[in-house]
Amino acid sequence: VIDIRTLYAKTGHFTYDPGFTSTASCSSKITYIDGDEGILLYRGYPIEQLAEKCDFLEVSYLLLKGELPNGAEMRRFVGDVGQHVMIHEQIARFYSGFRRDAHPMAILVGVVGALSAFYHDAIDIYSVEDRNLTAIRLIAKMPNIVAMSYKYSTGRPFMYPKRKLGYAENFMRMMMGDPCDDYIANPVLVRALDRILILHADHEQNASTSTVRLAGSSGANPYACVAAGIACLWGAAHGGANEAVLNMLEHIGDVSKIPEYVAKAKNKNDSFRLMGFGHRVYKNYDPRAKLMRQTCHEVLDELNLKDDPLFKLAMELERIALEDEYFVEKKLYPNVDFYSGIVLRALGIPTEMFTAIFALARSVGWIAQWDEMISDPEQKIGRPRQLYRGVSTRDVKTISQR
Ligand code: ACO
Repeated sequence: VIDIRTLYAKTGHFTYDPGFTSTASCSSKITYIDGDEGILLYRGYPIEQLAEKCDFLEVSYLLLKGELPNGAEMRRFVGDVGQHVMIHEQIARFYSGFRRDAHPMAILVGVVGALSAFYHDAIDIYSVEDRNLTAIRLIAKMPNIVAMSYKYSTGRPFMYPKRKLGYAENFMRMMMGDPCDDYIANPVLVRALDRILILHADHEQNASTSTVRLAGSSGANPYACVAAGIACLWGAAHGGANEAVLNMLEHIGDVSKIPEYVAKAKNKNDSFRLMGFGHRVYKNYDPRAKLMRQTCHEVLDELNLKDDPLFKLAMELERIALEDEYFVEKKLYPNVDFYSGIVLRALGIPTEMFTAIFALARSVGWIAQWDEMISDPEQKIGRPRQLYRGVSTRDVKTISQR
């Protein structure tokens, strides 16, 4: 077996870092996180200020272009996005190939991946204009694609987007409304959804973004790369956590059962974890969780849901875990997905759509990071090393000798 010393002698350097806990795979100017201090900046702006003063499309512009837009730039950007909101009828037909009960994330992997077949030769990834158009198309079409994945599962007709509506409002209408009614979204809920989108828009080199970069580093079609990111996001340790939180709360079922589940989460011999608690980078309160917690209370107040048993259960679990020695010592605070799951549930969004909404938000981060990578002169194909632990060289015997 070739051990680390041999590899070091051969290459001059070698690090073994499972999970990339201390290895930077790239340099980036998009998002900054200080996990110990609980700081998150997009292009230098604190997430708290962006969540208060901007909407999702302004934040998308910022992530893509590096600066917040002025009025004229924003009007142009909204116009560009508006031009691409429609889905080609041929793309709409992709959906009929899926089973009705397919998970929306599985549908998203398929449909977004299939965009690479639709917009294939048209994209020169080394052209700034083409990369910009790719980003605009993705941002514009994602609400429709995500809403359609839900509508398809329920058998209800797809809704066309309305250009005059805001991004989050349009999405809510396409998802919850039907052509036979005049769905008008509650502005408090629209703002809450917009905030969820802002808070999930980017988070530097998380698993799904790293996946997009790794796939893109070979020069692959950007929609195929984003589909790879969606696949990665689906897992419960990443974007699937918001769905897992709600499933866990339903499983716990009653406030009286919380201590039993907290004890399970603390038991080393039990694989159960409290979903929505802990974060790889934040060893302090996740700043997004603070904002989402506030939004959560605004929404529960607006909808008079504070007495709903599930929401009561969530608030009690939060209280108990925040006071528990194990969670305090390991710095396991509620993360953004603990609260976003509760907010989405209050908005009437079915649990299986939670991660799909995360994907909608993160699409802008993925495409901004992909764009940054392609235009980086230091960019190389991503090719991690490995620590080989298999058998050393041996001779092959013919099948009759084995
Ligand atoms: N419940 C109970 N114990 C936990 C939890 C939890 N939710 N999270 C971590 N721990 C414990 C681990 O058992 C481990 O204990 P040990 O040191 O005694 O072995 C210690 O805390 C550190 O955990 P790691 O798994 O090493 O931490 P890591 O940084 O690799 O994982 C992760 C972070 C995956 C988020 C983890 O905290 C977790 O599984 N949380 C639940 C799932 C979740 O909420 N994911 C959403 C992440 S946010 C996002 O994707 C936007």
